[in-house]
Amino acid sequence: MSELSPLSNPWGLDGLSVVVMGAGGGGIGTSISRFLGHAGATVVAVDVDAEKLKVCTDRLEADGTRHIGLLADGRDKDAIAAVVENACELAPLRGSVQVAGGMWPPQWAPFASDDPAFDDVMALNFGATVTTVRAVGRRLVEQGNGGTICNIATTSALNGMPYGSAYAASKAAVLSLTRSLSIEWGSRNIRVNAVAPGSIATPKSASTRKPGDTDGNDTDVIPMRRRGTSDDIAKGVLFMMSDMSAYVTGQVLCVDGGTSVRPTYNDNEELPVFVHNEELRARLRDW
Ligand SMILES: NC(=O)c1ccc[n+]([C@@H]2O[C@H](COP(=O)([O-])OP(=O)(O)OC[C@H]3O[C@@H](n4cnc5c(N)ncnc54)[C@H](O)[C@@H]3O)[C@@H](O)[C@H]2O)c1
Repeated sequence: MSELSPLSNPWGLDGLSVVVMGAGGGGIGTSISRFLGHAGATVVAVDVDAEKLKVCTDRLEADGTRHIGLLADGRDKDAIAAVVENACELAPLRGSVQVAGGMWPPQWAPFASDDPAFDDVMALNFGATVTTVRAVGRRLVEQGNGGTICNIATTSALNGMPYGSAYAASKAAVLSLTRSLSIEWGSRNIRVNAVAPGSIATPKSASTRKPGDTDGNDTDVIPMRRRGTSDDIAKGVLFMMSDMSAYVTGQVLCVDGGTSVRPTYNDNEELPVFVHNEELRARLRDW
């Protein structure tokens, strides 16, 4: 039973602190914080926005999770150093999840326009990840007990994103960093992985929609025919942060309902657009 006995507490997070950078707002970071808390971690919820942070800490409070909420900007080295100190005062540090990121509609721009938002998007999505992972990783090395780090990317990092090239490039850089650090820190048992969400319904992602919008035909391009939830992402992150992934490092887990493996030339019947033969289409469709 030596291999199976850990299943009574498979997470290995009890009594350890986890920093969630970008925990606020009721979206992905908040779900991640709650799942980590349910699994036994002491959650250090960090956000740059006080109101959004409170959304998360209120839920952690209601869950009965041991936590603190800290206001800090993930791009600010000194602020993040203080966050790590606070986390270690609460409990030995297990690691961190880098959620802060994204791109707002005004930041979408043609690449040729030389829009200054390009640098802002890179600074938030890549810069804040670098700052946080460096501070946390350095402390984990000092502690000498290993640890786990999970970076939130996007499936756009695997392809390309017209008018959002900064976002796709910044998250692709996050994936590259994830792979490099998994090797640098592998012998210290500090695992570094990433979760790449597909299209997830969050309060933030509502910013690209119209009031009263429904998903309509949007889900035709998702093999599972639904958008993801923040909880879907949190489950993937909990796997990566816990002992359930004890021998996994340097990997990207796509939590996207199959979108990243779907050929772009498929139509809404999941057949290639160039298959015109009706008899063949009917045989493959009607089963
Ligand atoms: N929602 C989606 O469909 C989707 C898809 C793919 C990837 N993602 C990624 O998931 C993450 C979370 O997405 P979400 O929709 O929940 O977004 P969100 O904006 O609701 O959450 C991000 C949180 O990070 C905080 N934050 C922003 N800048 C910060 C900074 N400098 N320092 C500290 N905190 C900061 C925000 O205040 C917010 O509370 C992002 O990295 C995003 O790129 C989201």
